Amino acid sequence: MLSVLVLISGTGSNLLALLAAAHEPGFPARVVAVGADRDAAGLAHAERFGIPTFVVAPGDFADREAWGAALLHRIRQHAPDLVVLSGLMRLLPAGVVRALAPHLVNTHPAYLPEFPGAHAVRDALAAGAAETGASVIVVDEGVDSGPIIVRERVPILPGDDEPALHERIKPVERRLLIGVVRDVAEGRLNLKEL
Ligand code: GAR
Repeated sequence: MLSVLVLISGTGSNLLALLAAAHEPGFPARVVAVGADRDAAGLAHAERFGIPTFVVAPGDFADREAWGAALLHRIRQHAPDLVVLSGLMRLLPAGVVRALAPHLVNTHPAYLPEFPGAHAVRDALAAGAAETGASVIVVDEGVDSGPIIVRERVPILPGDDEPALHERIKPVERRLLIGVVRDVAEGRLNLKEL
């Protein structure tokens, strides 16, 4: 059984989908803990599933490196096989990435390498693109620049605003993420080979 730790910053709707999938009999992975960089609303989803949560907030540390070391310490207490960034809206320090990669994946609401960064949905709309997408990647030390595991196109419709488009992208992200977790757990996907 693959053990997965999820890091979030926000509402955690993609986390909730993964928790629900992992709760199904026969799913080959389980979520062992959920962490956040702030008092994220999505932590409540984990609590409802009886899964331990933790918050490691950068403001409580002298610098990014100290925050990263504390975060890594909390992650390692749960000894996960895989760490999923599911809406963690903060770059991990390089030392944390090096310690966890390639067993560190990120979901992103765009068809990478198009529209990296924190405002991917807004940027796709601002560019006047006809389509955008969703991606799951291995995290590297750059901004959404790691090896792409899977990605899928999502059309941009006339009249789309940022919330509407994001809500159409998220179900695709969820399906891709759950598929990646299943494939890693069942040995069909070896993150070391990407
Ligand atoms: C998701 O769309 C995720 O891909 C995105 O934040 C959203 C979180 O939604 N992450 C990024 O943009 C990271 N660059 P959720 O909290 O409802 O799951």
